[in-house]
Amino acid sequence: MSGYILTAPAKINLYLEILGDRPDGFHELVMVMQTIGLRDRIEVKSQRGSGINLYCQHPQVPLNESNIAYRAAQLMMSRFPKAYDKFGGVDITIEKNIPVAAGLAGGSGNGAAVLVGLNLLWQLGLTQPDLQELAAELGSDVPFCIGGGTAIATGRGEILDPLPDLDGIPVVLAKYSNIAVSTPWAYQTYRKQFEEGYLPDDDSWQARMKQIHSGGLIQAIQQKNIEAIAAELYNDLEKVVLPEFPQVKKLRDCFAKHGAIGTMMSGSGPSVFALCNSVTEANNLKTAVAAELNDADLDLWVTHISCHGINATLIE
Ligand code: C5P
Repeated sequence: MSGYILTAPAKINLYLEILGDRPDGFHELVMVMQTIGLRDRIEVKSQRGSGINLYCQHPQVPLNESNIAYRAAQLMMSRFPKAYDKFGGVDITIEKNIPVAAGLAGGSGNGAAVLVGLNLLWQLGLTQPDLQELAAELGSDVPFCIGGGTAIATGRGEILDPLPDLDGIPVVLAKYSNIAVSTPWAYQTYRKQFEEGYLPDDDSWQARMKQIHSGGLIQAIQQKNIEAIAAELYNDLEKVVLPEFPQVKKLRDCFAKHGAIGTMMSGSGPSVFALCNSVTEANNLKTAVAAELNDADLDLWVTHISCHGINATLIE
């Protein structure tokens, strides 16, 4: 049976600001999203029977509807019943390299990969905006994961405004394998603590978004000025995650102490990334942080900022 192999990159947030409460219960956000080199590999194949078979060796990855990849296949089957009839059920195999529950959009990227894979496998001819519209039904980060690169994300995170590519900047990524942060918990805790400071309405959100669009980070990205980008990193969710998980704060401090030009928690955490000037500096930083924290539960990777989204290859 025919199929596709897809690679789905992790994302980091160079910027995450929470503006206020939306009528749909989500938060209005302004983020700068960025894909990095760390990737999952997803195989999407037609099978003779009907339904969805999901395979993954990783013990923390669910193999049912709580997995976005599974829900992505369900969505495509319900939206394109003729194609489902013609091509039959789907086998999805996920090879997990991106840490789970880490703030790196690993699950969202897997869902995006299934949308891209089934679009190709079922010869639907959907465009990137079509896929992003479907993706928004699966989760706030899924539309970004379709195209990747560097983008300003507003609304729930699904309204995307592309920025110039920032290819190749070395990144050290770190995550404690024994700490997982629930995204709903992070946002709910933030609301409890900071609701009083929320901007009240659409006009004030638009005004703040305009400021960010013309502000220091976007200029630094346009100029590809790494030092200036590093100085502008920001994440509101650090205010609730770092006090709850002091190890994550220590990790971030350790990156700063050993010469990262900028360091920040990604998304709702607990992964932390550090930007470096060169691959040599990144390797040295990884070694220094691993030696100082000396913890078997701390995983570290040297990767890089990447302008690539999901890549698809036909299985012959
Ligand atoms: O959209 P997604 O499923 O990734 O969101 C997970 C949770 O994160 C939501 O249920 C909500 O609690 C929180 N969230 C939010 N505002 C956003 C995005 C996510 O409050 N813009």
